[in-house]
Amino acid sequence: MKLKATFAIAALVSLFASSAFAAGDAARGQTLYATCGACHGAQGEGMQALNAPSLAGQEEWYVIRQLQNFKNGIRGTNPKDIFGMQMAPMAMTLPTEQAIEDVAAYIKSLAD
Ligand code: HEC
Repeated sequence: MKLKATFAIAALVSLFASSAFAAGDAARGQTLYATCGACHGAQGEGMQALNAPSLAGQEEWYVIRQLQNFKNGIRGTNPKDIFGMQMAPMAMTLPTEQAIEDVAAYIKSLAD
C-alpha cells in the first residue's frame, strides 16, 4: 500500500517535471509559426479582423493545452464555435507533440 502511494507520487512528480521542463525548441517553432502568422500576426500581435487573438508571450503550458484541445476536438468542433472552427484545422498542421511544444516555445519568446 505504502509502496503503491510512493509510485503514484513518483509518477506525478515526473509528470509535473516533464511538463515544467517541456523541451520546446523555439528555433524549430519559428519555422512552424510561419503558417500561424497569417492570422495571428508575424510577431504574434493578433489580428482582430480575422478574430485571431494575440499570442505573443503567452505561457507555453497554456498554448500547449489549447493546441491539444483543438487537435483533440475539445475546442473548435461545435458549429456555433465559428472562430474555434477556423483555428482547429490549423492545430492539425502541427503533426507531433514535439511540434506543439516547439511552436509554444517560439510564441513564449515573442515580446508581448
Ligand atoms: C485561419 C487563421 C488562423 C491561423 C492560420 C491560425 N490560427 Fe490560431 N486562432 C485563430 C482564431 C480565429 C482563434 C480564436 C479561436 C476562438 O475564438 O476560440 C485562434 C486561437 C488560437 C489559440 C488559442 C488562444 C487562446 O488564448 O485560447 C492558439 C493557442 C492558437 N490560435 C495558435 C495558433 C498556432 C500555433 C497556429 C499555427 C499552427 C495558428 N494558431 C494558426 C485563427 C488562426
